[in-house]
Amino acid sequence: MKPDGALQTFIDDVELVVGTTDDEYEITKRVAERLSALLASDYRLPPEVTRPSNEHHVNYPLYIAPDNSWSLASVVWNVGQRTPVHGHETWGVVGIYSGAEHELRYAKPTAAESVRPLTPAGEHVWERGQVTVCCTTDDDVHTVAAVGNVPTVGIHVYGANIGTIERRLYDPATGAVRRFVSGWNAPAVDGGHLQPSSDR
Ligand SMILES: [Fe+2]
Repeated sequence: MKPDGALQTFIDDVELVVGTTDDEYEITKRVAERLSALLASDYRLPPEVTRPSNEHHVNYPLYIAPDNSWSLASVVWNVGQRTPVHGHETWGVVGIYSGAEHELRYAKPTAAESVRPLTPAGEHVWERGQVTVCCTTDDDVHTVAAVGNVPTVGIHVYGANIGTIERRLYDPATGAVRRFVSGWNAPAVDGGHLQPSSDR
């Protein structure tokens, strides 16, 4: 997808932030400010990256940095869809473009901890126009569900090519971990078919 003017300006802004510092807390704070402004400007995503799938939530790439240092995605849940409990292994900022999402967070187990049930760390319903820092590398475990009667669309910014890096899926009841790579979905052109994607 070729970014339009407003999205290209946002991409340029994030590029500048990412190129200025390696501090995840500084990056996410500044990216969140810019994403809030983008959403407040009534920016409209192209329709081909806001279409849900009946099978699972989908990740459309809006921009992937040539060096894979960060990526921008439109993530779409159909009504009632939810993610498994998952991690991101990098920083992330999420803005709600339409609909609403319910997020349940968990404390990230440290490498030294034995496998044991995950500890819930709060929940929140995020609504249109709101922006949240979903992740830093040390605090990145959650599950997300679309709530309400319309699909949920989020604009997500991550500190890596989120579709290609290896990440963790958790069984919250036991703490068991499975590795996965989410992949990317192709924008839904008319009559086209979504490419499969396992999990976010
Ligand atoms: Fe997530």
